[in-house]
Amino acid sequence: MSTTPVPLVIDQLIDDRRTRIIVCCGSGGVGKTTIAAAVGLRAAERGRHVVVLTVDPARRLAQSMGLTSLDNTPRPVTGIRTGGSRRPADEAGQAHGGSLHAMMLDMKRTFDEIVESHADPDRAAQILANPFYQSLSSSFAGTQEYMAMEKLGQLRRADEWDLIVVDTPPSRSALDFLDAPQRLGKFLDGRLLRLLVAPAKLGGRTGLRVLNAGFGMVTGVVTKIIGSQLLRDVQTFVSAMDTMFGGFRERAEYTYRLLRAPGTSFLVIAAPEQDALREASYFVERLERDGMPLAGLILNRVHRSPAARLSAARSLAAAETLQGLDDSESSALGINALRLHAERMRQVESERRLAVRFTAAHPFVPVAQIPAQPDDVHDLNGLRVIGAAFTGE
Ligand SMILES: Nc1ncnc2c1ncn2[C@@H]1O[C@H](COP(=O)(O)OP(=O)(O)OP(=O)(O)O)[C@@H](O)[C@H]1O
Ligand SMILES: [Mg+2]
Repeated sequence: MSTTPVPLVIDQLIDDRRTRIIVCCGSGGVGKTTIAAAVGLRAAERGRHVVVLTVDPARRLAQSMGLTSLDNTPRPVTGIRTGGSRRPADEAGQAHGGSLHAMMLDMKRTFDEIVESHADPDRAAQILANPFYQSLSSSFAGTQEYMAMEKLGQLRRADEWDLIVVDTPPSRSALDFLDAPQRLGKFLDGRLLRLLVAPAKLGGRTGLRVLNAGFGMVTGVVTKIIGSQLLRDVQTFVSAMDTMFGGFRERAEYTYRLLRAPGTSFLVIAAPEQDALREASYFVERLERDGMPLAGLILNRVHRSPAARLSAARSLAAAETLQGLDDSESSALGINALRLHAERMRQVESERRLAVRFTAAHPFVPVAQIPAQPDDVHDLNGLRVIGAAFTGE
C-alpha cells in the first residue's frame, strides 16, 4: 500500500488549454474562495482568459479584486502581470494575452433573472412579487448552490472566457453543491406542490368532484399546518411557475452534463484536519461514483517547521534540561522557543499522518500541499504566494 501520493501539479492543469472549467469544492472554511481566486489569477498571469465566480469572498479580498458590489456581472481585475513581467495590466484586465474577470454570485438576482427570461413580463412580475417566491429565492437550503451552478451554465454559454473557475458556497457539506440542482428541481416539481395546486386546477369540473373533495381534505390539513396565506402564496407561485418546470429541470441537467464534460476538473480542498479530510473523502468517492472528473486534493494551510530535524521529543527534553540548569531571562526565552517548536512539530506530524491516511484510502488521487501563511490572504500578492505552490514541488 503506497502512502506517497501522486503529486498534483495545478500549473499543468491551468496550462492545459483543454481545461475549461475548474470547480473548487470542500467543506466550510477550508480555503475554497482563496484557492479559486489564486487559481484564476495564476491562470490569467500565465496567459489564459479567465473568469472567477466567487461566493461570499472576505471583504478585503473582494476589494482587491475590484468586487465592490453584488451585481452578478464579471468585472475586470486590474493589476495582473504575466511572464515574470512586473508591468501591471491595463484597465480591461488584459496582460500579455491573459485576462482576469471576477464576479460575486448574487443568488437572488440570478434566480430573478431565470424567472424573467422564462416568463412573459406580467407573469414574471407576478412571480417576483410572490412572498413564497421571495423566501424560496433567498433562503431555500440549496438555492445558493443551485444558483452557482446556474451561473456557471450561463458563463459557459456566453463563451467569452477560455477558463471558468468556480468557487462553491460555504455549505456544511461539500456534497450539497452536487445535490442542490436535483433537490431544487425535485422540490419545484414535487408531489406536494402539485397536490397543493391540484384543487385550483380541478375546481369546477363535475366529473372530478369526488377527487376534488379528497384533495380538498388534504389541502385542508396542509392549510392548518402551514397557514392559509402561505398556502395561497404557494398555489399562485406554483401555477405561475408551471410553464417553467421543464425549464428548470432542463437547465439543471445541462449544468450537470457540463460538470461531467471532458473540459471540467474538480479540485477538492481540505484543511489537514480530521473532519475536513473525512468530508473530502466522501466528496472524492461521490465524484468517482458520478463519473465526475477529479483533478485532485489540495491540502491547504499545511504547516512546516524551519527546523524539522529537531523532533518534538528532543526539543522537549532540551527544554527540561535547560530549565534545570538556570533560571535567567534568556534561558526562559530559549525554553519557550523549544516548547513552541515541539508543539509545531506535533502539529506537522499529525498533519502528515492525516495526509498519509487519506492517500492510503485513495492512492490514485493526486495531492498538492499549500503552506499555511502567517496571515490571511487578502490581496493579489497574497494570492500569488499561494499560486507559487502550484508547481507541484
Ligand atoms: N494557505 C492559507 N494560509 C493562511 N490563510 C489562509 C490560507 N488559505 C486560506 N486562508 C484564510 O482562511 C480564511 C478562510 O478562507 P476562505 O474564505 O477561502 O475559505 P472558504 O472555504 O471559502 O470558506 P467558506 O466555506 O466560508 O466559503 C480566509 O481568511 C483566508 O484568508
Ligand atoms: Mg468561500
